[in-house]
Amino acid sequence: MCGIVGYIGNREVFPILLKGLKRLEYRGYDSAGIAILNGDLHVYKKAGKVSDLEKHIADSDVTSTIGIGHTRWATHGAPNDENAHPHLSQSGNLTIIHNGIIENYASIKTELKGRGYTFHSDTDTEVLINLIEEIKKQEKCTLEDAVRIALNQVIGAYAIVVMDKNNPNQLIAARKGSPLVLGIGEKEFFIASDASPIVEYTKNVVYLDDQEYAVINRTGDFYIKTLGNVEKSPAIQKLEMSIEAIEKGGFEHFMLKEIYEQPKVIADSLRGRMSAVEGWIKLGGLDEYINRINNAHRIIITACGTSWHSGLIGEYLIEELARVNVEVEYASEFRYRNPIINSSDVVLAISQSGETADTLAAIELAKERQALIYGICNVIGSSIARVSHAGSYTHAGPEIGVASTKAFSTQVSILILIALQIAKHKGTIANSKLREILYELENIPKKVEKALALDEQVKEIAAIYKDAPNFLYLGRGLNFPVALEGALKLKEISYIHAEGYPAAEMKHGPIALIDEAMPVVFLATNQSAYEKIISNIQEVKARKGKVIAIVNEGDTEIKEIADHVIEVPATEEILSPLVTIVPLQLLSYHIAVMRGANVDQPRNLAKSVTVE
Ligand code: M6R
Repeated sequence: MCGIVGYIGNREVFPILLKGLKRLEYRGYDSAGIAILNGDLHVYKKAGKVSDLEKHIADSDVTSTIGIGHTRWATHGAPNDENAHPHLSQSGNLTIIHNGIIENYASIKTELKGRGYTFHSDTDTEVLINLIEEIKKQEKCTLEDAVRIALNQVIGAYAIVVMDKNNPNQLIAARKGSPLVLGIGEKEFFIASDASPIVEYTKNVVYLDDQEYAVINRTGDFYIKTLGNVEKSPAIQKLEMSIEAIEKGGFEHFMLKEIYEQPKVIADSLRGRMSAVEGWIKLGGLDEYINRINNAHRIIITACGTSWHSGLIGEYLIEELARVNVEVEYASEFRYRNPIINSSDVVLAISQSGETADTLAAIELAKERQALIYGICNVIGSSIARVSHAGSYTHAGPEIGVASTKAFSTQVSILILIALQIAKHKGTIANSKLREILYELENIPKKVEKALALDEQVKEIAAIYKDAPNFLYLGRGLNFPVALEGALKLKEISYIHAEGYPAAEMKHGPIALIDEAMPVVFLATNQSAYEKIISNIQEVKARKGKVIAIVNEGDTEIKEIADHVIEVPATEEILSPLVTIVPLQLLSYHIAVMRGANVDQPRNLAKSVTVE
C-alpha cells in the first residue's frame, strides 16, 4: 500500500504535505514525492524515505497553497525516482498520486502508445493520468468528467488525487478499494489515506465510499458523487483520534511505544463490554446476532499474518469454551479454493487495518454464499468494518509500527469475549467459572504491565543471541500460536530466520536443526501440559540447543534445565497469550535495534497489504 495526502486552502501546503507524508510513511517507504501548483506544476520525487525527499527539496521554492504528496510501496516498477509519485500526464498539465493497482493498465498503455503517448515510468499510475488526459482531450470535457469516465474504464483498486495546472482552485479525489478520508476545514480541505495527516487541523471528516469521488474547491464548497455521476449527501463524522496517539511520546520507536501501550489498550478493548462483579459480557455486534451464531454449523476465522495468529488463538478459545466447531483459514488461500460455505456458517474476519485485500476478498466470497460476516477490526470506518454484517472494534488506537503488537493483544481480548459470550449463551460454561475468568480478565492489564517490567532482562538475553542466524519458537496449546507470532516478529524486524512450531511437533523434523548455535524459545506456562513441555525442553538440551523459557513466576523446575528463564505472572491458561507474547515482542524489538535494523519500517514490508 501507499500513503497519499493532498491539501487546498489558504495555508502553505509544503509543511502540511511533508508532515502528512511522515505520518503516512508506515504505509510504504521506498520512495516519496510531492507536487505543488504555483503557476506551473512542480514535481519533486525521490527513491528512499521521506527524509531523502526532504533533503532533495531543501533548496527549492515550494511556496503554494495547493499540492499533493505520496509515499510509495512499490507494486509496478522498481522503487526508483522515475516510478515515484506524483506522475505527470504527457502534456504536463495534470498530475496524480495513486494508492492501489490498475489491473488492466497494460492494454490501456498499448492503446495510448498507439495514440502517441510515451511513458517515463513502469507504473500503472502514469497510464491512468494519461488516460484521463486523453479522455479530456477527446471528449472536450471537464477534468471531473474525464476522471469519472476514466475510472469507469479501469479495473482494479485505487485511491487517487488529481491536480490540474490550469485549475489552481480544485482537487479531485476518488476511491475504490483503497481508503481515502476527506478533512473539512474553514475554506480548506485535506485529503489522505488515513486521518493522521488531518487530525491536527480539523476533526470533521468524510470517509469516501468505494466508487465515489470528491470535487473540492478552494472556495470551501465540495461535493461527492458516485462513479455513476449521482450526487451523494456527505456523511460528516467527528474524528476521535488524538495527536498523542500518532506520535512517539518519548519512545525511540513506535513499536516500543505500542508494546508498552498494551495494558491500556487491552483495558480499552474490554471497557463497557464485561463486568466480573455482575457476571456479564456484552459485545454489541455479537448480541444482535447471538442466536444465529449459537446455531452456527461452524465458525470460520479468516485473516492474514499476525491477525491469523490471533485467529488460531480464537479457535482454541471458542472450541474449548463454547464447543463450536472452528476452522482458521489464511484469507489468501480461502478466497481461491472454492470453500464449502453457506448460510449456516459464521465468518470471523480479523484485521488490524481493515483494508487487507485478501481478507476483504475472502469476506466477499463468504458473503456471496450467505454466511454471516463478523469483523474484528482496529481502524474505525475501514473497508472490512463496513462490509461486515456486524463486528467489534478492538480499540487499540493507531498502530504505526509495521510489526503488529498491540493490535494482536486487543484482537485476542475480543476473541476471549466472543468465546465467553457464546459459551454463556449456550450454557457451556458454569457461571462460577465464567466469573473467575472475568475477574482474571479485569486483572490482565496489571499482569501485562508486570511482564513489561521484564524489559531489561529480555534486553540482556537479546544481547547474547542477537547474532544467531536462526531461532526456534515452541509452544503447546494456546502457546503454539504465540510461538508463531514470536517467530514472525523476529523475522520481520530483525531479518533473522525463525520458525514457530507446536513443541511436540519438533521431533518430527525441526529437531534436526538443533545444535549449540540454535536458540530455542519455549513458551512453558501451560499448566495443562507442563510435564510434556519439560520433556520437550530436555530433548533440546540433550542436543545442546540454547533454551530461553518463558515460565510462570515461581517456576523452579524449568530453571534447573533452561539456559535462561523469563518469569511472567501466572494467569488463567486461556488468558495466557496476553502475557506470554510480551517478552517475545520485546526480544524481537531489542534484537532488531541491536542489529541496527529499521524497527518501524522493516525492509520490503508495508503496514497493510492492500494488493494481492
Ligand atoms: O491489517 P491486517 O491485520 O489485516 O494485516 C495482516 C497482516 O498483513 C499483518 O498482521 C502483518 O503480518 C504484520 N506485518 C505483522 O506484524
